[in-house]
Amino acid sequence: MNALLEALRPGEQDEALARAIDPARLPAHIAVIMDGNGRWARRRGQLRVAGHKAGMRPVRMVIEACAQIGIEALTLYAFSVENWKRPRTEVEMLWRLLRTYLRIELDELMRQQVRLRVIGRTDALPAAVREELDDALEKTAGNRGLQLNLAINYGGRAEIVDAVKALVEDARRGETVIDEAAISARLYTAGVPDPDLLIRTSGEMRVSNFLLWQIAYAELYVTETLWPDFTRGDLLRAILDYQKRDRRYGGLGASVAGSAPAGEVRDPFSPALSVPIQ
Ligand code: FPP
Repeated sequence: MNALLEALRPGEQDEALARAIDPARLPAHIAVIMDGNGRWARRRGQLRVAGHKAGMRPVRMVIEACAQIGIEALTLYAFSVENWKRPRTEVEMLWRLLRTYLRIELDELMRQQVRLRVIGRTDALPAAVREELDDALEKTAGNRGLQLNLAINYGGRAEIVDAVKALVEDARRGETVIDEAAISARLYTAGVPDPDLLIRTSGEMRVSNFLLWQIAYAELYVTETLWPDFTRGDLLRAILDYQKRDRRYGGLGASVAGSAPAGEVRDPFSPALSVPIQ
């Protein structure tokens, strides 16, 4: 948080938002569905690819801001397993953009101490993209700052299938514990805390096969803003909104926890009453 406040000039736009954030209650992991590039371009009478190009600016911004704020992990949904259905020219353009991004931004990622991970079925990516990614993964592997996960050729169900395959394989070799931790440990995100906050731009109320297992208790934040228009202020507002939520994880949450006597649970239809546990 301090690094962001230091980077902001007094009175600069976003300063008040940044000061309002409680550094003790930051989301450890923010995941983002970057949606609305196509609509952004269409509204300007431009080709869809122009929207993807314009979507690079907020990519840079969220990475830098999350690194400055001290967020532990950031996951960006860049390409889903379903995105292959798009016209070939658009898919090729997305690969070109990704390669350009890696080439131009690698020094900056190093300066910001960002550690890159790619989540998804990367063996299906074009060789040139894989090589560029492998190079960036290797170079950033020793960084100790923000963990940046780029979801590329990613699908939540595919990830669970891959985890179950790995688990079955391990079970064959004699390792037989099958529980939630065993599944989590075999997901692409193994070792990274589950997202606390999932942001989706462009107003769609869907999770679109993104981090299905990991978002079990994530707080959802949907903004009408299209991805290319997403600003640092929007990110800070999402974090502030998150900090207002009462996270209950199926329990009673901070606002009512402790008010029900032990051995009793609240009847949700009659909050004033409580019912004994049988
Ligand atoms: C969704 O908008 C966006 C994508 C499928 C691609 C996201 C890619 C970028 C932001 C650029 C490259 C990213 C990195 C990490 C270098 P959409 O095309 O579905 O928009 P629409 O719903 O308005 O059509």
